[in-house]
Amino acid sequence: MNADLLITGISQLVTAKGSGAKHGPAMRELHITERAAIAICNGGIIWTGKEHDWSGVAQASVNVGNRAVVPGLIDPHTHAVWAGDRLADFDARTSGETYETILAAGGGIRRTIRATAAATKDELFSLAEIRIHALLRSGATIIEVKSGYGFTPAAEIAMLEVIQALAARTPARLLPTLLIHIPPSDTEDRTRYIAEICTELIPEVARRKLATAVDIFVEREAWHVDEAALVVQSAKQHDLAIKLHTEQFQRIGGLELGVRMRALSVDHLEACGPDQLAMLAASSTIATILPGVSLHLGIPAAPGRQLVDAGAAVAIGTDLNPGSSPLFSTAAALALAVRLNGLTAQEALVAGTVNAACALGLADAGRLEVGLQADFLVLEGSDWRNLAYALGSNPVREVWIRGERLQA
Ligand code: NIG
Ligand code: FE
Repeated sequence: MNADLLITGISQLVTAKGSGAKHGPAMRELHITERAAIAICNGGIIWTGKEHDWSGVAQASVNVGNRAVVPGLIDPHTHAVWAGDRLADFDARTSGETYETILAAGGGIRRTIRATAAATKDELFSLAEIRIHALLRSGATIIEVKSGYGFTPAAEIAMLEVIQALAARTPARLLPTLLIHIPPSDTEDRTRYIAEICTELIPEVARRKLATAVDIFVEREAWHVDEAALVVQSAKQHDLAIKLHTEQFQRIGGLELGVRMRALSVDHLEACGPDQLAMLAASSTIATILPGVSLHLGIPAAPGRQLVDAGAAVAIGTDLNPGSSPLFSTAAALALAVRLNGLTAQEALVAGTVNAACALGLADAGRLEVGLQADFLVLEGSDWRNLAYALGSNPVREVWIRGERLQA
Protein backbone atom coordinates (compact mmCIF):
# COMPACT_ATOMS: atom_id res chain seq x y z
CA MET A 1 0.00 0.00 0.00
CA ASN A 2 1.30 3.45 -0.96
CA ALA A 3 0.48 6.52 1.11
CA ASP A 4 1.25 10.21 0.58
CA LEU A 5 1.49 10.66 4.31
CA LEU A 6 1.65 8.54 7.43
CA ILE A 7 0.61 10.07 10.76
CA THR A 8 2.43 8.35 13.62
CA GLY A 9 2.91 8.90 17.35
CA ILE A 10 -0.84 8.73 18.04
CA SER A 11 -1.36 7.72 21.68
CA GLN A 12 -5.05 6.99 21.08
CA LEU A 13 -7.00 7.02 17.83
CA VAL A 14 -10.61 7.50 18.86
CA THR A 15 -13.66 7.24 16.62
CA ALA A 16 -17.20 5.96 16.30
CA LYS A 17 -17.57 3.40 13.52
CA GLY A 18 -20.17 2.72 10.87
CA SER A 19 -22.46 5.18 9.14
CA GLY A 20 -25.80 6.31 10.51
CA ALA A 21 -26.84 8.12 13.66
CA LYS A 22 -25.93 6.55 16.98
CA HIS A 23 -28.94 6.21 19.26
CA GLY A 24 -28.97 5.76 23.03
CA PRO A 25 -26.28 3.37 24.35
CA ALA A 26 -24.62 3.24 20.90
CA MET A 27 -23.51 6.82 21.65
CA ARG A 28 -21.00 5.34 24.10
CA GLU A 29 -19.42 2.92 21.62
CA LEU A 30 -16.07 4.42 20.73
CA HIS A 31 -13.23 2.49 19.16
CA ILE A 32 -9.88 3.32 20.69
CA THR A 33 -6.64 2.15 19.09
CA GLU A 34 -3.51 2.78 21.14
CA ARG A 35 -0.13 3.58 19.53
CA ALA A 36 -1.92 4.09 16.24
CA ALA A 37 -1.14 5.46 12.79
CA ILE A 38 -3.23 6.84 9.92
CA ALA A 39 -2.21 6.48 6.27
CA ILE A 40 -3.49 9.16 3.90
CA CYS A 41 -3.62 9.34 0.11
CA ASN A 42 -5.15 12.24 -1.87
CA GLY A 43 -6.67 13.69 1.29
CA GLY A 44 -8.49 10.46 2.16
CA ILE A 45 -7.86 7.77 4.78
CA ILE A 46 -6.51 4.56 3.22
CA TRP A 47 -5.48 2.73 6.37
CA THR A 48 -5.68 3.01 10.18
CA GLY A 49 -4.34 0.63 12.80
CA LYS A 50 -1.56 -0.04 15.27
CA GLU A 51 1.57 1.79 14.15
CA HIS A 52 3.68 -1.39 14.21
CA ASP A 53 1.21 -3.12 11.89
CA TRP A 54 1.80 -0.62 9.05
CA SER A 55 3.62 -2.42 6.24
CA GLY A 56 3.09 0.00 3.35
CA VAL A 57 5.24 2.73 1.90
CA ALA A 58 4.67 6.37 2.80
CA GLN A 59 6.24 9.30 0.96
CA ALA A 60 6.30 11.37 4.15
CA SER A 61 5.44 10.96 7.78
CA VAL A 62 4.50 13.24 10.65
CA ASN A 63 4.90 12.19 14.28
CA VAL A 64 2.31 13.88 16.51
CA GLY A 65 4.31 13.21 19.67
CA ASN A 66 2.24 10.74 21.66
CA ARG A 67 -0.98 12.74 21.43
CA ALA A 68 -4.60 11.66 21.05
CA VAL A 69 -6.39 12.00 17.72
CA VAL A 70 -10.16 12.31 17.22
CA PRO A 71 -12.30 13.06 14.14
CA GLY A 72 -12.75 16.70 13.15
CA LEU A 73 -15.74 18.07 15.07
CA ILE A 74 -18.92 19.06 13.29
CA ASP A 75 -20.87 22.09 14.47
CA PRO A 76 -24.44 21.56 13.23
CA HIS A 77 -25.94 24.87 14.42
CA THR A 78 -24.44 28.37 14.16
CA HIS A 79 -25.57 31.88 13.32
CA ALA A 80 -22.04 33.09 12.56
CA VAL A 81 -23.06 36.00 10.32
CA TRP A 82 -24.28 39.12 12.12
CA ALA A 83 -23.40 42.76 12.71
CA GLY A 84 -23.62 44.91 15.85
CA ASP A 85 -23.68 43.54 19.37
CA ARG A 86 -26.10 42.62 22.11
CA LEU A 87 -24.26 44.14 25.03
CA ALA A 88 -27.26 46.29 26.00
CA ASP A 89 -29.41 43.13 26.12
CA PHE A 90 -26.71 41.44 28.19
CA ASP A 91 -26.81 44.32 30.68
CA ALA A 92 -30.61 44.20 30.76
CA ARG A 93 -30.60 40.47 31.35
CA THR A 94 -28.00 40.61 34.06
CA SER A 95 -30.25 43.22 35.71
CA GLY A 96 -33.18 40.80 35.68
CA GLU A 97 -34.98 41.12 32.32
CA THR A 98 -35.59 37.96 30.32
CA TYR A 99 -34.61 37.11 26.72
CA GLU A 100 -38.28 36.77 25.78
CA THR A 101 -39.41 40.12 27.22
CA ILE A 102 -36.49 41.90 25.51
CA LEU A 103 -37.52 40.27 22.22
CA ALA A 104 -41.21 41.12 22.72
CA ALA A 105 -40.23 44.78 23.32
CA GLY A 106 -38.47 44.99 19.94
CA GLY A 107 -34.93 44.28 21.14
CA GLY A 108 -32.99 41.01 21.07
CA ILE A 109 -32.98 39.35 17.66
CA ARG A 110 -34.76 42.43 16.19
CA ARG A 111 -31.83 44.60 17.30
CA THR A 112 -29.40 42.31 15.46
CA ILE A 113 -31.60 42.33 12.35
CA ARG A 114 -31.44 46.16 12.29
CA ALA A 115 -27.65 46.16 12.73
CA THR A 116 -27.19 43.47 10.08
CA ALA A 117 -29.37 45.40 7.61
CA ALA A 118 -27.15 48.45 8.14
CA ALA A 119 -23.93 46.55 7.33
CA THR A 120 -22.49 45.94 3.87
CA LYS A 121 -21.89 42.41 2.63
CA ASP A 122 -18.14 43.02 2.86
CA GLU A 123 -18.50 44.02 6.50
CA LEU A 124 -20.62 40.95 7.25
CA PHE A 125 -18.02 38.78 5.51
CA SER A 126 -15.12 40.19 7.57
CA LEU A 127 -17.00 39.88 10.85
CA ALA A 128 -18.05 36.29 10.13
CA GLU A 129 -14.67 35.17 8.83
CA ILE A 130 -13.10 35.75 12.25
CA ARG A 131 -15.84 33.74 13.95
CA ILE A 132 -15.55 30.84 11.51
CA HIS A 133 -11.81 30.81 12.12
CA ALA A 134 -12.40 30.62 15.89
CA LEU A 135 -14.73 27.63 15.43
CA LEU A 136 -12.20 26.00 13.13
CA ARG A 137 -9.40 26.45 15.68
CA SER A 138 -11.66 24.91 18.30
CA GLY A 139 -11.87 21.76 16.15
CA ALA A 140 -14.86 22.24 13.84
CA THR A 141 -14.00 21.03 10.33
CA ILE A 142 -17.63 21.14 9.13
CA ILE A 143 -19.84 24.04 10.20
CA GLU A 144 -23.47 24.80 9.52
CA VAL A 145 -24.15 28.54 9.13
CA LYS A 146 -27.64 30.04 9.10
CA SER A 147 -29.09 33.19 7.64
CA GLY A 148 -31.99 34.61 9.67
CA TYR A 149 -31.04 38.16 10.53
CA GLY A 150 -33.16 39.57 7.72
CA PHE A 151 -36.69 40.99 7.66
CA THR A 152 -36.96 40.65 3.89
CA PRO A 153 -36.27 37.88 1.37
CA ALA A 154 -33.57 40.11 -0.15
CA ALA A 155 -31.80 40.42 3.22
CA GLU A 156 -31.89 36.63 3.69
CA ILE A 157 -30.48 36.09 0.19
CA ALA A 158 -27.71 38.60 0.94
CA MET A 159 -26.78 36.66 4.09
CA LEU A 160 -26.71 33.39 2.17
CA GLU A 161 -24.45 35.01 -0.44
CA VAL A 162 -22.08 36.05 2.34
CA ILE A 163 -22.05 32.43 3.59
CA GLN A 164 -21.34 31.24 0.04
CA ALA A 165 -18.36 33.63 -0.17
CA LEU A 166 -17.12 32.45 3.24
CA ALA A 167 -17.36 28.82 2.10
CA ALA A 168 -15.03 29.59 -0.80
CA ARG A 169 -12.47 31.14 1.55
CA THR A 170 -12.28 28.79 4.54
CA PRO A 171 -10.77 25.31 4.62
CA ALA A 172 -13.72 24.19 6.76
CA ARG A 173 -16.74 22.85 4.93
CA LEU A 174 -19.68 25.25 5.45
CA LEU A 175 -23.28 24.11 5.09
CA PRO A 176 -25.68 27.02 4.57
CA THR A 177 -29.20 27.01 6.04
CA LEU A 178 -32.00 29.46 5.27
CA LEU A 179 -33.43 30.43 8.68
CA ILE A 180 -36.89 31.99 8.94
CA HIS A 181 -36.31 33.60 12.28
CA ILE A 182 -38.67 36.33 13.48
CA PRO A 183 -42.02 37.47 12.05
CA PRO A 184 -43.02 41.05 11.27
CA SER A 185 -45.01 42.51 14.20
CA ASP A 186 -48.27 42.93 12.27
CA THR A 187 -50.55 39.89 11.74
CA GLU A 188 -51.35 40.80 8.16
CA ASP A 189 -47.69 41.27 7.38
CA ARG A 190 -46.80 37.89 8.79
CA THR A 191 -49.30 36.14 6.52
CA ARG A 192 -47.92 38.06 3.54
CA TYR A 193 -44.32 37.31 4.57
CA ILE A 194 -44.97 33.57 4.90
CA ALA A 195 -46.54 33.57 1.42
CA GLU A 196 -43.53 35.42 0.03
CA ILE A 197 -41.15 32.93 1.69
CA CYS A 198 -42.98 29.93 0.29
CA THR A 199 -43.56 31.20 -3.24
CA GLU A 200 -40.47 33.33 -3.84
CA LEU A 201 -37.67 33.00 -1.30
CA ILE A 202 -37.51 29.20 -0.94
CA PRO A 203 -37.79 28.58 -4.70
CA GLU A 204 -34.99 31.07 -5.39
CA VAL A 205 -32.75 29.64 -2.66
CA ALA A 206 -33.31 26.13 -4.02
CA ARG A 207 -32.74 27.18 -7.65
CA ARG A 208 -29.50 28.98 -6.82
CA LYS A 209 -28.40 26.25 -4.36
CA LEU A 210 -27.82 28.88 -1.70
CA ALA A 211 -28.83 26.55 1.15
CA THR A 212 -29.13 22.84 1.81
CA ALA A 213 -31.77 23.21 4.53
CA VAL A 214 -34.54 25.46 5.77
CA ASP A 215 -34.93 26.17 9.49
CA ILE A 216 -37.74 28.02 11.27
CA PHE A 217 -37.96 29.32 14.86
CA VAL A 218 -41.16 27.93 16.39
CA GLU A 219 -41.92 29.81 19.59
CA ARG A 220 -44.62 31.98 21.13
CA GLU A 221 -42.52 35.08 20.36
CA ALA A 222 -41.66 33.81 16.87
CA TRP A 223 -43.56 31.62 14.37
CA HIS A 224 -46.55 29.44 15.21
CA VAL A 225 -46.76 25.83 14.23
CA ASP A 226 -49.32 26.32 11.42
CA GLU A 227 -47.07 28.96 9.86
CA ALA A 228 -44.03 26.69 10.25
CA ALA A 229 -45.94 23.85 8.58
CA LEU A 230 -46.34 25.96 5.42
CA VAL A 231 -42.63 26.76 5.33
CA VAL A 232 -41.68 23.14 5.94
CA GLN A 233 -43.97 21.97 3.13
CA SER A 234 -42.48 24.45 0.72
CA ALA A 235 -38.94 23.38 1.71
CA LYS A 236 -39.87 19.74 1.07
CA GLN A 237 -41.36 20.58 -2.32
CA HIS A 238 -38.05 22.15 -3.26
CA ASP A 239 -35.95 19.23 -2.00
CA LEU A 240 -34.45 21.16 0.86
CA ALA A 241 -33.88 19.48 4.21
CA ILE A 242 -35.71 20.73 7.31
CA LYS A 243 -34.53 21.80 10.74
CA LEU A 244 -36.45 23.53 13.51
CA HIS A 245 -35.55 25.81 16.41
CA THR A 246 -38.08 24.50 18.87
CA GLU A 247 -39.02 23.87 22.52
CA GLN A 248 -36.58 26.62 23.62
CA PHE A 249 -39.02 28.25 26.02
CA GLN A 250 -42.48 26.84 25.28
CA ARG A 251 -44.00 23.68 23.91
CA ILE A 252 -46.28 24.75 21.07
CA GLY A 253 -46.02 21.77 18.73
CA GLY A 254 -42.73 22.42 16.92
CA LEU A 255 -41.07 19.19 17.99
CA GLU A 256 -44.08 17.13 16.86
CA LEU A 257 -44.12 18.94 13.51
CA GLY A 258 -40.40 18.25 13.05
CA VAL A 259 -40.72 14.55 13.81
CA ARG A 260 -43.82 14.20 11.62
CA MET A 261 -42.15 15.94 8.68
CA ARG A 262 -38.88 13.99 9.11
CA ALA A 263 -36.78 17.02 9.94
CA LEU A 264 -33.04 16.34 10.00
CA SER A 265 -32.98 17.80 13.49
CA VAL A 266 -34.96 19.61 16.14
CA ASP A 267 -32.70 22.04 17.97
CA HIS A 268 -32.75 23.62 21.47
CA LEU A 269 -35.19 21.33 23.39
CA GLU A 270 -34.67 23.07 26.75
CA ALA A 271 -38.43 22.79 27.33
CA CYS A 272 -38.73 19.24 25.96
CA GLY A 273 -40.94 17.13 28.26
CA PRO A 274 -40.69 13.47 29.34
CA ASP A 275 -43.49 12.38 26.97
CA GLN A 276 -41.53 13.75 23.99
CA LEU A 277 -38.40 11.69 24.63
CA ALA A 278 -39.76 8.43 23.25
CA MET A 279 -41.18 10.20 20.22
CA LEU A 280 -37.75 11.54 19.34
CA ALA A 281 -36.07 8.20 20.08
CA ALA A 282 -38.38 6.39 17.67
CA SER A 283 -37.75 8.91 14.90
CA SER A 284 -34.97 9.60 12.41
CA THR A 285 -34.77 13.19 13.67
CA ILE A 286 -31.64 14.15 15.59
CA ALA A 287 -32.06 15.93 18.94
CA THR A 288 -29.57 18.82 18.78
CA ILE A 289 -28.76 20.38 22.14
CA LEU A 290 -27.11 23.77 22.57
CA PRO A 291 -25.55 24.05 26.02
CA GLY A 292 -24.14 27.53 25.37
CA VAL A 293 -27.70 28.85 25.51
CA SER A 294 -28.38 27.33 28.93
CA LEU A 295 -25.13 28.79 30.22
CA HIS A 296 -25.59 32.26 28.73
CA LEU A 297 -29.32 32.73 29.33
CA GLY A 298 -29.46 30.76 32.57
CA ILE A 299 -32.38 28.69 31.30
CA PRO A 300 -32.80 25.01 32.15
CA ALA A 301 -30.53 22.74 30.10
CA ALA A 302 -32.08 20.41 27.53
CA PRO A 303 -32.52 16.91 28.99
CA GLY A 304 -29.51 15.39 27.23
CA ARG A 305 -29.12 12.52 29.69
CA GLN A 306 -32.81 11.59 29.46
CA LEU A 307 -32.74 11.84 25.66
CA VAL A 308 -29.83 9.39 25.44
CA ASP A 309 -31.38 7.06 28.01
CA ALA A 310 -34.63 7.07 26.05
CA GLY A 311 -32.71 6.02 22.91
CA ALA A 312 -32.59 9.29 20.99
CA ALA A 313 -29.65 10.33 18.79
CA VAL A 314 -28.25 13.52 20.31
CA ALA A 315 -26.00 16.08 18.59
CA ILE A 316 -24.32 19.16 20.08
CA GLY A 317 -23.88 22.61 18.53
CA THR A 318 -22.47 25.91 19.71
CA ASP A 319 -25.48 27.93 18.43
CA LEU A 320 -22.88 30.70 18.04
CA ASN A 321 -24.92 33.93 17.94
CA PRO A 322 -24.79 37.31 19.67
CA GLY A 323 -27.95 36.95 21.76
CA SER A 324 -28.36 33.52 23.29
CA SER A 325 -24.96 31.87 22.88
CA PRO A 326 -21.78 33.88 22.26
CA LEU A 327 -19.82 30.61 22.32
CA PHE A 328 -16.92 30.59 19.87
CA SER A 329 -15.65 27.07 20.56
CA THR A 330 -17.16 23.81 19.34
CA ALA A 331 -14.92 21.85 21.70
CA ALA A 332 -16.27 23.95 24.58
CA ALA A 333 -19.83 23.08 23.54
CA LEU A 334 -18.91 19.42 24.10
CA ALA A 335 -17.36 20.23 27.47
CA LEU A 336 -20.51 22.14 28.50
CA ALA A 337 -22.83 19.33 27.37
CA VAL A 338 -21.05 17.03 29.80
CA ARG A 339 -21.55 19.49 32.70
CA LEU A 340 -24.97 20.94 31.85
CA ASN A 341 -26.81 18.24 29.92
CA GLY A 342 -25.42 15.20 31.72
CA LEU A 343 -23.69 13.52 28.77
CA THR A 344 -20.61 11.37 29.28
CA ALA A 345 -17.41 12.38 27.48
CA GLN A 346 -17.94 9.43 25.10
CA GLU A 347 -21.49 10.52 24.28
CA ALA A 348 -20.36 14.11 23.79
CA LEU A 349 -17.72 13.06 21.23
CA VAL A 350 -20.27 11.03 19.26
CA ALA A 351 -22.76 13.92 19.54
CA GLY A 352 -20.13 16.32 18.19
CA THR A 353 -18.99 14.10 15.32
CA VAL A 354 -21.04 11.34 13.72
CA ASN A 355 -24.44 12.45 15.09
CA ALA A 356 -23.73 16.07 14.21
CA ALA A 357 -22.95 14.87 10.66
CA CYS A 358 -26.34 13.15 10.53
CA ALA A 359 -27.98 16.37 11.77
CA LEU A 360 -26.63 17.90 8.56
CA GLY A 361 -27.63 14.97 6.37
CA LEU A 362 -24.01 13.83 5.91
CA ALA A 363 -23.53 10.06 6.01
CA ASP A 364 -19.79 10.02 5.37
CA ALA A 365 -18.30 12.42 7.91
CA GLY A 366 -17.43 12.55 11.58
CA ARG A 367 -15.52 9.25 11.67
CA LEU A 368 -11.96 8.11 11.05
CA GLU A 369 -12.40 5.19 8.71
CA VAL A 370 -10.93 4.01 5.43
CA GLY A 371 -12.56 5.76 2.49
CA LEU A 372 -13.45 8.91 4.40
CA GLN A 373 -11.79 12.31 4.21
CA ALA A 374 -8.78 12.72 6.53
CA ASP A 375 -10.29 15.39 8.80
CA PHE A 376 -8.91 14.97 12.30
CA LEU A 377 -7.71 16.78 15.39
CA VAL A 378 -4.48 16.28 17.30
CA LEU A 379 -5.36 17.03 20.91
CA GLU A 380 -3.21 18.47 23.69
CA GLY A 381 -2.15 15.46 25.75
CA SER A 382 -2.25 11.73 25.30
CA ASP A 383 -5.75 11.08 26.71
CA TRP A 384 -8.63 12.03 24.38
CA ARG A 385 -10.89 12.84 27.33
CA ASN A 386 -9.09 16.18 27.67
CA LEU A 387 -11.34 17.27 24.80
CA ALA A 388 -14.42 17.44 27.01
CA TYR A 389 -12.49 18.19 30.22
CA ALA A 390 -10.66 21.44 29.54
CA LEU A 391 -12.52 24.68 30.27
CA GLY A 392 -11.11 27.96 29.03
CA SER A 393 -8.06 26.58 27.23
CA ASN A 394 -8.17 25.09 23.75
CA PRO A 395 -7.75 21.29 23.98
CA VAL A 396 -7.15 21.16 20.20
CA ARG A 397 -3.50 21.44 19.22
CA GLU A 398 -3.74 20.83 15.47
CA VAL A 399 -6.59 20.75 12.96
CA TRP A 400 -6.14 18.60 9.84
CA ILE A 401 -8.50 18.81 6.87
CA ARG A 402 -8.19 16.52 3.80
CA GLY A 403 -4.84 15.36 5.15
CA GLU A 404 -3.42 18.87 5.49
CA ARG A 405 -2.54 20.67 8.70
CA LEU A 406 -4.23 24.01 9.18
CA GLN A 407 -1.69 26.80 9.64
CA ALA A 408 -2.40 28.49 13.03
O1 NIG B 1 -30.79 29.70 18.48
N1 NIG B 1 -33.75 31.30 19.57
C1 NIG B 1 -33.65 31.74 18.48
N2 NIG B 1 -32.56 32.01 17.76
C2 NIG B 1 -31.22 31.98 18.21
C3 NIG B 1 -30.80 33.22 18.93
C4 NIG B 1 -30.55 34.35 18.03
C5 NIG B 1 -30.26 35.63 18.76
O2 NIG B 1 -30.61 35.79 19.95
O3 NIG B 1 -29.71 36.50 18.08
C6 NIG B 1 -30.97 30.75 19.06
O4 NIG B 1 -30.98 30.82 20.30
FE1 FE C 1 -29.98 28.95 16.92
